[in-house]
Amino acid sequence: MKPLVAEHRQHAASAAAPAGAASAEAECGAGVRVVDRIVDAMRSPVPHLQTKRLLLRELVLADAPAYERHFIDYEVVRNLARAVPWPYPPGGVEAFFRGVLLPAQGVQRWTWGLFQQPAPLECIGVVDLWREGRPEHRGFWLGRSHWGQGLMTEAVAAVNDCAFGQLGFQRLVFSNARGNLRSRRVKEKTGARFLGVEPSLFVDPSLRERELWETTQGDWVQFRRSAP
Ligand SMILES: CC(C)(COP(=O)(O)OP(=O)(O)OC[C@H]1O[C@@H](n2cnc3c(N)ncnc32)[C@H](O)[C@@H]1OP(=O)(O)O)[C@@H](O)C(=O)NCCC(=O)NCCS
Repeated sequence: MKPLVAEHRQHAASAAAPAGAASAEAECGAGVRVVDRIVDAMRSPVPHLQTKRLLLRELVLADAPAYERHFIDYEVVRNLARAVPWPYPPGGVEAFFRGVLLPAQGVQRWTWGLFQQPAPLECIGVVDLWREGRPEHRGFWLGRSHWGQGLMTEAVAAVNDCAFGQLGFQRLVFSNARGNLRSRRVKEKTGARFLGVEPSLFVDPSLRERELWETTQGDWVQFRRSAP
C-alpha cells in the first residue's frame, strides 16, 4: 500500500548520539552524563529547548524503541495524514529515522523528541517543524498515557519561540483533522488564527477535512506579551 518511509513527515525525530555515550555513563556516573548532554546539545542541529516539565531535544536511533511504544497506537496515528502507513510495518520507525528524519535534521526539518523532567530518559512524543509548508509547517503527537496534562501546549509554545526567534520563521501554518478537538485546542491555547476548512485525507478514513490555522511572528510576540 503506502511506502514505508516516503512522504509521511507527520511523525518525526533526529541526530546521532556520540558512539559509546552509554558506556561512558556507566563507567563514570552522573558527572559524565551532564557533560555528555552539554556536548550533545552543542553538536546538535536541533536546538535543545527546556520548559517547566519537558526537555525537547533531537532524537537519536536509541530513542526508536520508546518512539515505537508511544507512536504505534491507532488512537495516535488515526489523526495523522493518510501518508502514514497503517497497519504500521515492523521496522518502520527505524527505517523512518534512518531514511527521512536523520538526513534532514536541521536542514529541511527540526524534529524534537519530548522527554519529561527531571529524568528525561524516554521519548514520549514529538514536535516536528518543516521549513517548507505543505501547507502546514508543524506536526505533533504525544503518547496516549500523557494526554490531557497540557504537555503538548507547553512543548508547542517552546517550539514557536524557537521558530520565530532563532530559526527566523515569519509565518507558520498548522492543520488538524476536523474533529480532532485536542489538537484544535492546542492551537487555540497558543493563539493561532483559524483560517478555514478544506478536504484532506487521514489515516482514519472517517476524517475527511482539515482545519487550517496560522500564526505570524508578530502574532506570537503579541501573544507572548499578553499570555507569557
Ligand atoms: C493532540 C495531542 C498532541 C494533544 O496533547 P495534550 O498534551 O493532551 O494536549 P494539551 O493537554 O496541551 O491540550 C489538550 C486540550 O484538549 C482538551 N480536550 C481533551 N479532550 C477533549 C475532547 N474530547 N474535546 C475537546 N477538548 C478536549 C483538553 O481539555 C485540553 O484543553 P484545556 O487545557 O483547555 O483543558 C494528543 O492528543 C495526541 O497526540 N493526539 C494524537 C495525535 C494527534 O492528533 N496529533 C495532532 C495531529 S494535527
